[in-house]
Amino acid sequence: MALIALGVTGGIGAYKAVDVCRGLQRHGHDVVAVMTRSAARFVGPVTFEAITRRRVVTSQWKPGMNAEIEHIAIADQIALLLVAPCTANVIGKFAAGLADDFLSSLYLATRAPVLVAPAMNSNMLAHDAVQRNLRTLAARGVRLVEPGEGYLACGWIGKGRLAESSDIVAAALAMLTPVDSILRGRHVVVTAGPTYEDIDAVRYVGNRSSGRMGFALAAEARRRGARVTLVAGPTGLEPPGADEIVRVRSAAEMHAAVMVAASRAEVVIMAAAVADYTPSSPAAHKAPKADAPLTLRLERTRDILGDLSGTASRAASGTPLLVGFAAETGDAAAKAREKRTRKGVDLMVANDVARPDAGFEVETNAVTLIDAEGEQELPVQSKERVAAAILDRVEQLLRTRAASPVRA
Ligand code: CTP
Repeated sequence: MALIALGVTGGIGAYKAVDVCRGLQRHGHDVVAVMTRSAARFVGPVTFEAITRRRVVTSQWKPGMNAEIEHIAIADQIALLLVAPCTANVIGKFAAGLADDFLSSLYLATRAPVLVAPAMNSNMLAHDAVQRNLRTLAARGVRLVEPGEGYLACGWIGKGRLAESSDIVAAALAMLTPVDSILRGRHVVVTAGPTYEDIDAVRYVGNRSSGRMGFALAAEARRRGARVTLVAGPTGLEPPGADEIVRVRSAAEMHAAVMVAASRAEVVIMAAAVADYTPSSPAAHKAPKADAPLTLRLERTRDILGDLSGTASRAASGTPLLVGFAAETGDAAAKAREKRTRKGVDLMVANDVARPDAGFEVETNAVTLIDAEGEQELPVQSKERVAAAILDRVEQLLRTRAASPVRA
Protein backbone atom coordinates (compact mmCIF):
# COMPACT_ATOMS: atom_id res chain seq x y z
CA MET A 1 0.00 0.00 0.00
CA ALA A 2 1.33 3.41 -0.95
CA LEU A 3 0.42 6.93 0.09
CA ILE A 4 -0.61 9.00 -2.94
CA ALA A 5 -1.11 12.77 -2.91
CA LEU A 6 -4.09 13.62 -5.09
CA GLY A 7 -3.86 17.24 -6.22
CA VAL A 8 -7.21 18.66 -7.23
CA THR A 9 -7.22 21.97 -9.10
CA GLY A 10 -9.96 24.34 -10.19
CA GLY A 11 -11.64 22.76 -13.17
CA ILE A 12 -15.14 21.50 -13.70
CA GLY A 13 -13.72 17.96 -13.73
CA ALA A 14 -12.79 18.34 -10.05
CA TYR A 15 -15.80 16.25 -9.09
CA LYS A 16 -14.34 13.33 -11.06
CA ALA A 17 -11.33 13.37 -8.72
CA VAL A 18 -13.62 11.75 -6.16
CA ASP A 19 -13.90 8.76 -8.46
CA VAL A 20 -10.14 8.71 -9.03
CA CYS A 21 -9.63 8.74 -5.29
CA ARG A 22 -11.99 5.80 -4.84
CA GLY A 23 -10.26 3.89 -7.64
CA LEU A 24 -6.87 4.29 -5.97
CA GLN A 25 -8.32 3.19 -2.64
CA ARG A 26 -9.90 0.13 -4.23
CA HIS A 27 -6.36 -0.92 -5.19
CA GLY A 28 -5.35 -0.67 -1.56
CA HIS A 29 -3.70 2.76 -1.62
CA ASP A 30 -4.02 5.55 0.87
CA VAL A 31 -4.82 9.01 -0.51
CA VAL A 32 -4.19 12.48 0.86
CA ALA A 33 -6.10 15.15 -1.04
CA VAL A 34 -4.47 18.51 -1.72
CA MET A 35 -6.89 21.08 -3.10
CA THR A 36 -6.12 24.47 -4.59
CA ARG A 37 -8.28 27.43 -3.63
CA SER A 38 -10.16 27.29 -6.92
CA ALA A 39 -10.74 23.54 -6.64
CA ALA A 40 -12.58 24.14 -3.38
CA ARG A 41 -15.07 26.29 -5.31
CA PHE A 42 -16.03 23.25 -7.41
CA VAL A 43 -16.04 20.50 -4.77
CA GLY A 44 -16.17 20.85 -1.03
CA PRO A 45 -13.08 19.70 0.88
CA VAL A 46 -15.40 17.83 3.24
CA THR A 47 -16.18 15.39 0.42
CA PHE A 48 -12.52 14.42 0.14
CA GLU A 49 -12.11 14.41 3.90
CA ALA A 50 -14.93 11.88 4.19
CA ILE A 51 -13.60 9.53 1.52
CA THR A 52 -9.89 9.80 2.33
CA ARG A 53 -10.45 9.84 6.09
CA ARG A 54 -7.60 12.32 6.25
CA ARG A 55 -7.48 16.04 6.74
CA VAL A 56 -7.66 17.71 3.35
CA VAL A 57 -4.89 20.18 2.67
CA THR A 58 -6.37 23.37 1.27
CA SER A 59 -3.93 26.01 2.40
CA GLN A 60 -0.42 26.45 3.64
CA TRP A 61 -1.49 29.18 5.97
CA LYS A 62 -3.83 27.45 8.41
CA PRO A 63 -2.59 27.47 12.02
CA GLY A 64 -1.29 24.01 12.85
CA MET A 65 -0.16 23.32 9.27
CA ASN A 66 3.41 24.36 9.89
CA ALA A 67 4.29 22.42 13.01
CA GLU A 68 5.93 19.82 10.80
CA ILE A 69 6.30 21.97 7.64
CA GLU A 70 3.56 19.86 6.17
CA HIS A 71 4.40 20.13 2.48
CA ILE A 72 7.84 18.74 3.25
CA ALA A 73 6.42 15.99 5.47
CA ILE A 74 3.91 14.90 2.81
CA ALA A 75 6.54 15.30 0.07
CA ASP A 76 8.72 12.76 1.87
CA GLN A 77 5.97 10.24 2.53
CA ILE A 78 4.19 9.99 -0.81
CA ALA A 79 4.93 7.42 -3.49
CA LEU A 80 3.20 9.48 -6.19
CA LEU A 81 1.87 12.98 -6.76
CA LEU A 82 -1.16 12.79 -9.04
CA VAL A 83 -2.90 15.98 -10.14
CA ALA A 84 -6.36 15.41 -11.63
CA PRO A 85 -7.73 17.59 -13.02
CA CYS A 86 -4.72 19.77 -13.70
CA THR A 87 -5.48 23.26 -15.02
CA ALA A 88 -3.36 25.28 -17.46
CA ASN A 89 -2.45 27.53 -14.54
CA VAL A 90 -1.04 24.73 -12.39
CA ILE A 91 0.76 23.19 -15.38
CA GLY A 92 2.36 26.62 -15.90
CA LYS A 93 3.34 26.93 -12.26
CA PHE A 94 4.92 23.46 -12.22
CA ALA A 95 6.83 24.20 -15.43
CA ALA A 96 8.11 27.53 -14.11
CA GLY A 97 8.92 26.22 -10.64
CA LEU A 98 6.65 28.67 -8.84
CA ALA A 99 5.65 27.74 -5.31
CA ASP A 100 2.92 30.11 -4.16
CA ASP A 101 0.56 27.55 -2.66
CA PHE A 102 0.62 24.13 -1.06
CA LEU A 103 0.31 22.06 -4.25
CA SER A 104 3.02 23.88 -6.18
CA SER A 105 5.36 23.74 -3.16
CA LEU A 106 4.65 20.03 -2.84
CA TYR A 107 5.56 19.53 -6.52
CA LEU A 108 8.97 21.13 -5.95
CA ALA A 109 9.58 19.40 -2.63
CA THR A 110 8.78 15.82 -3.55
CA ARG A 111 11.07 13.26 -5.14
CA ALA A 112 8.12 11.01 -5.89
CA PRO A 113 7.08 10.56 -9.52
CA VAL A 114 4.47 13.01 -10.78
CA LEU A 115 1.45 12.33 -12.99
CA VAL A 116 -0.82 15.07 -14.29
CA ALA A 117 -4.17 14.76 -16.03
CA PRO A 118 -4.76 18.07 -17.83
CA ALA A 119 -8.27 19.37 -18.36
CA MET A 120 -9.18 22.62 -20.06
CA ASN A 121 -10.80 24.23 -23.09
CA SER A 122 -9.44 23.00 -26.46
CA ASN A 123 -7.91 26.34 -27.45
CA MET A 124 -6.19 26.64 -24.10
CA LEU A 125 -4.79 23.13 -24.49
CA ALA A 126 -3.57 23.86 -28.01
CA HIS A 127 -1.98 27.17 -27.00
CA ASP A 128 1.76 27.36 -27.54
CA ALA A 129 2.36 28.38 -23.94
CA VAL A 130 0.51 25.35 -22.55
CA GLN A 131 2.08 22.97 -25.07
CA ARG A 132 5.52 24.29 -24.20
CA ASN A 133 4.88 23.87 -20.50
CA LEU A 134 3.65 20.30 -21.07
CA ARG A 135 6.81 19.54 -23.05
CA THR A 136 8.94 20.99 -20.24
CA LEU A 137 7.16 18.76 -17.72
CA ALA A 138 7.45 15.68 -19.95
CA ALA A 139 11.17 16.28 -20.44
CA ARG A 140 11.51 16.44 -16.66
CA GLY A 141 9.95 13.00 -16.36
CA VAL A 142 6.42 14.09 -15.42
CA ARG A 143 3.90 11.73 -17.00
CA LEU A 144 0.70 12.93 -18.61
CA VAL A 145 -2.68 11.30 -18.97
CA GLU A 146 -3.87 12.61 -22.32
CA PRO A 147 -7.09 14.60 -22.09
CA GLY A 148 -10.03 13.11 -23.95
CA GLU A 149 -12.14 14.51 -26.77
CA GLY A 150 -15.80 15.28 -26.41
CA TYR A 151 -18.28 17.72 -25.02
CA LEU A 152 -16.56 20.31 -22.83
CA ALA A 153 -18.16 22.23 -19.99
CA CYS A 154 -17.72 25.48 -21.93
CA GLY A 155 -20.05 24.11 -24.61
CA TRP A 156 -17.30 23.27 -27.10
CA ILE A 157 -16.69 19.90 -28.59
CA GLY A 158 -13.00 19.13 -28.79
CA LYS A 159 -9.94 17.87 -26.98
CA GLY A 160 -9.43 18.94 -23.39
CA ARG A 161 -11.81 17.06 -21.14
CA LEU A 162 -10.36 15.19 -18.21
CA ALA A 163 -9.43 11.61 -19.13
CA GLU A 164 -11.69 8.82 -17.82
CA SER A 165 -11.17 8.12 -14.12
CA SER A 166 -10.32 4.49 -14.84
CA ASP A 167 -7.55 5.57 -17.26
CA ILE A 168 -6.14 7.99 -14.68
CA VAL A 169 -6.14 5.28 -12.01
CA ALA A 170 -4.46 2.80 -14.38
CA ALA A 171 -1.74 5.33 -15.25
CA ALA A 172 -1.19 6.05 -11.56
CA LEU A 173 -0.89 2.37 -10.66
CA ALA A 174 1.63 1.83 -13.46
CA MET A 175 3.79 4.60 -12.00
CA LEU A 176 4.00 3.41 -8.44
CA THR A 177 7.50 2.27 -7.61
CA PRO A 178 7.53 -1.49 -7.78
CA VAL A 179 8.35 -2.48 -4.23
CA ASP A 180 10.22 -5.56 -5.33
CA SER A 181 12.61 -3.87 -7.77
CA ILE A 182 16.11 -5.26 -7.40
CA LEU A 183 17.32 -1.80 -8.44
CA ARG A 184 16.05 -0.23 -5.22
CA GLY A 185 18.99 1.37 -3.41
CA ARG A 186 21.45 0.36 -6.15
CA HIS A 187 23.63 2.88 -7.92
CA VAL A 188 22.93 3.22 -11.63
CA VAL A 189 24.96 5.42 -13.98
CA VAL A 190 23.22 6.55 -17.17
CA THR A 191 24.82 8.55 -19.97
CA ALA A 192 22.74 10.59 -22.39
CA GLY A 193 22.99 12.92 -25.35
CA PRO A 194 25.74 13.64 -27.82
CA THR A 195 29.32 14.78 -27.26
CA TYR A 196 30.80 17.83 -28.96
CA GLU A 197 34.37 17.68 -30.16
CA ASP A 198 35.86 21.13 -30.61
CA ILE A 199 37.51 22.11 -33.89
CA ASP A 200 38.34 25.60 -32.66
CA ALA A 201 36.98 28.14 -30.19
CA VAL A 202 33.55 28.29 -31.89
CA ARG A 203 33.14 25.16 -34.06
CA TYR A 204 32.67 21.55 -33.14
CA VAL A 205 31.88 18.10 -34.51
CA GLY A 206 28.68 16.71 -32.98
CA ASN A 207 25.80 14.36 -33.68
CA ARG A 208 22.00 14.37 -33.67
CA SER A 209 21.38 12.66 -30.33
CA SER A 210 18.79 14.56 -28.23
CA GLY A 211 19.39 12.74 -24.96
CA ARG A 212 15.74 11.65 -24.77
CA MET A 213 16.43 7.90 -24.51
CA GLY A 214 19.06 8.33 -21.77
CA PHE A 215 16.82 10.74 -19.88
CA ALA A 216 13.94 8.26 -20.01
CA LEU A 217 16.25 5.55 -18.65
CA ALA A 218 17.45 7.79 -15.81
CA ALA A 219 13.86 8.66 -14.87
CA GLU A 220 12.75 5.03 -14.99
CA ALA A 221 15.72 3.80 -12.92
CA ARG A 222 14.90 6.43 -10.30
CA ARG A 223 11.24 5.41 -10.33
CA ARG A 224 12.38 1.90 -9.44
CA GLY A 225 14.25 3.26 -6.44
CA ALA A 226 17.79 3.33 -7.84
CA ARG A 227 20.29 6.06 -6.96
CA VAL A 228 20.98 7.60 -10.34
CA THR A 229 24.00 9.46 -11.64
CA LEU A 230 23.20 11.03 -14.99
CA VAL A 231 26.15 12.00 -17.17
CA ALA A 232 24.72 14.24 -19.87
CA GLY A 233 26.28 15.63 -23.01
CA PRO A 234 25.13 18.96 -24.44
CA THR A 235 21.40 18.89 -25.20
CA GLY A 236 18.59 21.41 -25.17
CA LEU A 237 16.26 19.07 -23.30
CA GLU A 238 15.69 19.48 -19.59
CA PRO A 239 17.16 16.49 -17.72
CA PRO A 240 14.89 14.50 -15.40
CA GLY A 241 15.44 14.49 -11.66
CA ALA A 242 18.53 12.47 -10.70
CA ASP A 243 20.56 12.10 -7.54
CA GLU A 244 23.57 13.52 -9.33
CA ILE A 245 23.81 15.20 -12.73
CA VAL A 246 27.24 15.62 -14.32
CA ARG A 247 27.27 17.87 -17.38
CA VAL A 248 30.01 17.11 -19.91
CA ARG A 249 30.84 18.32 -23.39
CA SER A 250 33.42 16.09 -25.05
CA ALA A 251 34.01 12.35 -25.25
CA ALA A 252 37.10 12.81 -23.07
CA GLU A 253 35.06 14.59 -20.39
CA MET A 254 32.39 11.90 -20.56
CA HIS A 255 35.07 9.21 -20.23
CA ALA A 256 36.49 10.85 -17.10
CA ALA A 257 33.06 11.40 -15.51
CA VAL A 258 31.84 7.85 -16.21
CA MET A 259 35.02 6.25 -14.89
CA VAL A 260 34.61 8.07 -11.57
CA ALA A 261 30.88 7.35 -11.25
CA ALA A 262 31.19 3.74 -12.41
CA SER A 263 33.68 2.85 -9.69
CA ARG A 264 30.78 2.84 -7.22
CA ALA A 265 28.01 1.69 -9.57
CA GLU A 266 26.21 -1.61 -9.99
CA VAL A 267 24.86 -0.79 -13.45
CA VAL A 268 26.19 1.49 -16.19
CA ILE A 269 23.95 2.28 -19.16
CA MET A 270 25.73 3.99 -22.03
CA ALA A 271 22.87 5.58 -23.97
CA ALA A 272 25.02 8.54 -25.03
CA ALA A 273 26.13 8.90 -28.63
CA VAL A 274 29.81 9.32 -27.85
CA ALA A 275 32.03 10.64 -30.64
CA ASP A 276 34.42 8.02 -31.98
CA TYR A 277 36.79 10.69 -33.30
CA THR A 278 37.95 14.08 -32.11
CA PRO A 279 39.98 16.80 -33.87
CA SER A 280 43.69 16.18 -33.22
CA SER A 281 44.67 19.72 -32.33
CA PRO A 282 41.72 22.04 -31.76
CA ALA A 283 42.62 25.70 -32.15
CA ALA A 284 42.23 27.80 -29.01
CA HIS A 285 41.07 30.76 -31.14
CA LYS A 286 38.55 30.97 -34.00
CA ALA A 287 40.42 29.67 -37.06
CA PRO A 288 40.06 32.02 -40.08
CA LYS A 289 38.99 30.49 -43.41
CA ALA A 290 41.33 30.19 -46.38
CA ASP A 291 40.66 29.53 -50.07
CA ALA A 292 42.25 26.08 -50.00
CA PRO A 293 40.11 23.10 -48.92
CA LEU A 294 40.43 22.24 -45.28
CA THR A 295 41.50 18.83 -44.09
CA LEU A 296 40.56 18.02 -40.55
CA ARG A 297 42.67 15.42 -38.82
CA LEU A 298 40.71 13.35 -36.33
CA GLU A 299 41.99 10.93 -33.80
CA ARG A 300 40.17 8.12 -31.98
CA THR A 301 38.52 8.84 -28.69
CA ARG A 302 38.81 6.31 -25.89
CA ASP A 303 36.06 3.72 -25.82
CA ILE A 304 34.27 4.17 -22.51
CA LEU A 305 32.43 0.84 -22.59
CA GLY A 306 35.58 -0.96 -23.69
CA ASP A 307 37.56 0.57 -20.83
CA LEU A 308 34.82 -0.24 -18.32
CA SER A 309 34.56 -3.85 -19.41
CA GLY A 310 38.33 -4.29 -19.32
CA THR A 311 38.91 -3.35 -15.67
CA ALA A 312 40.34 -6.03 -13.40
CA SER A 313 37.58 -5.56 -10.82
CA ARG A 314 34.88 -6.13 -13.43
CA ALA A 315 36.67 -9.23 -14.69
CA ALA A 316 36.64 -10.55 -11.13
CA SER A 317 33.14 -9.55 -10.01
CA GLY A 318 31.16 -8.84 -13.17
CA THR A 319 30.20 -5.49 -11.64
CA PRO A 320 29.10 -3.09 -12.95
CA LEU A 321 26.61 -4.67 -15.29
CA LEU A 322 27.14 -2.91 -18.62
CA VAL A 323 24.47 -1.88 -21.11
CA GLY A 324 25.46 -0.48 -24.50
CA PHE A 325 23.51 1.00 -27.38
CA ALA A 326 24.22 0.22 -31.00
CA ALA A 327 22.73 2.86 -33.27
CA GLU A 328 22.98 1.38 -36.74
CA THR A 329 21.60 1.83 -40.21
CA GLY A 330 20.63 -1.52 -41.73
CA ASP A 331 20.82 -4.95 -40.08
CA ALA A 332 21.11 -3.36 -36.64
CA ALA A 333 20.75 -6.65 -34.74
CA ALA A 334 23.63 -8.40 -36.49
CA LYS A 335 25.99 -5.47 -36.01
CA ALA A 336 24.90 -5.10 -32.38
CA ARG A 337 25.50 -8.79 -31.71
CA GLU A 338 29.08 -8.42 -32.88
CA LYS A 339 29.51 -5.17 -30.90
CA ARG A 340 28.23 -6.80 -27.72
CA THR A 341 30.94 -9.42 -27.69
CA ARG A 342 33.65 -7.07 -28.95
CA LYS A 343 32.91 -4.47 -26.27
CA GLY A 344 32.35 -7.07 -23.54
CA VAL A 345 28.96 -5.73 -22.44
CA ASP A 346 26.12 -7.68 -20.81
CA LEU A 347 23.22 -6.19 -22.73
CA MET A 348 23.27 -4.45 -26.09
CA VAL A 349 20.33 -2.39 -27.25
CA ALA A 350 20.21 -2.33 -31.03
CA ASN A 351 18.30 0.36 -32.83
CA ASP A 352 17.97 1.07 -36.50
CA VAL A 353 18.34 4.84 -36.66
CA ALA A 354 17.44 4.86 -40.37
CA ARG A 355 13.77 4.29 -39.42
CA PRO A 356 11.75 7.51 -39.20
CA ASP A 357 10.06 6.37 -35.96
CA ALA A 358 13.22 5.33 -34.11
CA GLY A 359 16.53 6.76 -32.98
CA PHE A 360 17.59 10.38 -33.00
CA GLU A 361 15.30 13.39 -32.50
CA VAL A 362 12.04 11.42 -32.25
CA GLU A 363 9.98 10.44 -29.23
CA THR A 364 9.61 6.77 -30.12
CA ASN A 365 12.10 3.99 -30.54
CA ALA A 366 12.19 0.42 -31.86
CA VAL A 367 14.92 -1.70 -30.37
CA THR A 368 16.14 -5.27 -30.05
CA LEU A 369 17.61 -6.34 -26.71
CA ILE A 370 20.56 -8.67 -27.11
CA ASP A 371 22.29 -10.51 -24.30
CA ALA A 372 24.10 -13.79 -23.81
CA GLU A 373 20.81 -15.65 -23.37
CA GLY A 374 19.07 -14.43 -26.52
CA GLU A 375 17.28 -11.60 -28.25
CA GLN A 376 14.01 -9.77 -27.80
CA GLU A 377 12.64 -7.53 -30.53
CA LEU A 378 10.38 -4.79 -29.14
CA PRO A 379 7.69 -2.97 -31.12
CA VAL A 380 7.86 0.76 -31.82
CA GLN A 381 6.85 2.54 -28.63
CA SER A 382 7.58 5.64 -26.59
CA LYS A 383 11.11 6.00 -25.26
CA GLU A 384 9.64 5.80 -21.74
CA ARG A 385 8.24 2.34 -22.47
CA VAL A 386 11.47 1.26 -24.14
CA ALA A 387 13.32 2.44 -21.02
CA ALA A 388 11.01 0.31 -18.85
CA ALA A 389 11.62 -2.75 -21.05
CA ILE A 390 15.40 -2.26 -20.91
CA LEU A 391 15.32 -1.96 -17.13
CA ASP A 392 13.07 -5.04 -16.84
CA ARG A 393 15.82 -6.93 -18.67
CA VAL A 394 18.54 -5.37 -16.49
CA GLU A 395 16.62 -6.46 -13.40
CA GLN A 396 16.33 -9.97 -14.78
CA LEU A 397 20.10 -10.12 -15.41
CA LEU A 398 20.81 -8.83 -11.88
CA ARG A 399 18.47 -11.44 -10.38
CA THR A 400 20.11 -14.24 -12.37
CA ARG A 401 23.48 -12.97 -11.22
CA ALA A 402 22.36 -12.83 -7.59
CA ALA A 403 21.18 -16.44 -7.88
CA SER A 404 24.55 -17.62 -9.27
CA PRO A 405 27.22 -15.07 -8.36
CA VAL A 406 30.03 -16.82 -10.26
CA ARG A 407 30.27 -15.36 -13.76
CA ALA A 408 29.83 -17.64 -16.72
N1 CTP B 1 30.67 4.21 -26.76
C1 CTP B 1 31.60 4.38 -25.75
N2 CTP B 1 32.73 5.10 -25.99
C2 CTP B 1 32.98 5.62 -27.20
C3 CTP B 1 32.06 5.42 -28.26
C4 CTP B 1 30.89 4.71 -28.00
O1 CTP B 1 31.38 3.88 -24.65
N3 CTP B 1 34.09 6.33 -27.39
C5 CTP B 1 29.45 3.43 -26.46
C6 CTP B 1 28.16 4.13 -26.82
O2 CTP B 1 27.68 4.91 -25.76
C7 CTP B 1 27.24 2.97 -27.13
C8 CTP B 1 28.19 1.90 -27.66
O3 CTP B 1 29.49 2.29 -27.25
O4 CTP B 1 26.64 2.46 -25.97
C9 CTP B 1 28.17 1.72 -29.15
O5 CTP B 1 28.63 2.85 -29.78
P1 CTP B 1 28.98 2.90 -31.33
O6 CTP B 1 29.66 4.18 -31.61
O7 CTP B 1 27.77 2.57 -32.09
O8 CTP B 1 29.95 1.66 -31.43
P2 CTP B 1 31.34 1.50 -32.05
O9 CTP B 1 31.96 0.37 -31.38
O10 CTP B 1 32.07 2.80 -32.00
O11 CTP B 1 31.00 1.03 -33.49
P3 CTP B 1 31.04 1.73 -34.91
O12 CTP B 1 32.24 1.20 -35.50
O13 CTP B 1 29.77 1.25 -35.56
O14 CTP B 1 31.05 3.21 -34.69
